[in-house]
This record gives sequence, structure tokens and C-alpha cells, in this order.
Amino acid sequence: MIDNNQMDQLFAQARQIADKAYAPYSKFRVGAALLCQDGTVITGVNVENRSFGLTICAERNAICAAVAKGHLRFAALAISTPDSVEPTGPCGACRQVISEFMPPNTLVRFAGSGEKQVNTTVGELYPFDSLHELMDK
Ligand code: THU
Repeated sequence: MIDNNQMDQLFAQARQIADKAYAPYSKFRVGAALLCQDGTVITGVNVENRSFGLTICAERNAICAAVAKGHLRFAALAISTPDSVEPTGPCGACRQVISEFMPPNTLVRFAGSGEKQVNTTVGELYPFDSLHELMDK
């Protein structure tokens, strides 16, 4: 089981990588850190584009990078949004993609630059998930 100390460390990695975000349009940096079941941490940032709709969120970038390295099982996810004081949760598209790879009990932490942090689970972020019958488990 992941303890609070491990979540602190994972969040610190998300915060650190957020500085690498490519967000010249929104100026809203996002960093994501994914703890894989084998202990590896894979990070991602948001990458914007002047054709705004092509922007890729930090969470999905981290998941895609992890899958490309052979990771399919994850223990926890941390998301840092240092340009908002309040915590900013993952967008709807990211919640769907997160649900593809992480079971409902997977821990998720997100926080902005302020004191407040949200500690939740994939199941709370994305309830009433569907289409699992299409997955080859
Ligand atoms: N963004 C993320 O990276 N993750 C989210 O879940 C929410 C939004 C990015 C997209 C865009 O670059 C910026 O934050 C503002 O929406």
C-alpha cells in the first residue's frame, strides 16, 4: 500500500516536472508523475500547440510515455498545477484515459501552489465508468 510519504515524494516529482511544461498560450503549467507497480516513476507535462485543440495534457503524456516503456500497471498518480493556488483536477478526457489503465482504488493526489491538496481515487474521479466489457482483461 502507498503511504503518505510516498505520495509526498510522487507529488514533489510532479511539481518539479511541471517546470518543463510547454504552455506558452495558457501559461498554466501541469506536471504529472505516475508511480508504476514496479516502483518506476514516469512523468509528463502539458504540451500546447498554436492550434489549441492539439494540446496534450500532462496526465495523458505521462501515461503514453509509461506505456511506451512497457508499463501497464500503476500504483498512484500525482498532479501539480503550480499556476493555480487551488488544486485542479484532471480534465474529463484524462479521467477516461486514466480509467483505462488504473483500477478504481488507485490513489490520486492533486494540488496547486496553495496548502490545500486533494487525495482521492480513480473511482471517485470517474464514477459509473463503462465499456469494461470491451477490454480484454
Ligand atoms: N491541462 C492538463 O495538462 N491537464 C488537465 O487535466 C487539465 C488541463 C492543461 C491543458 C492546457 O495546456 C492547460 O492545462 C490549460 O487548460
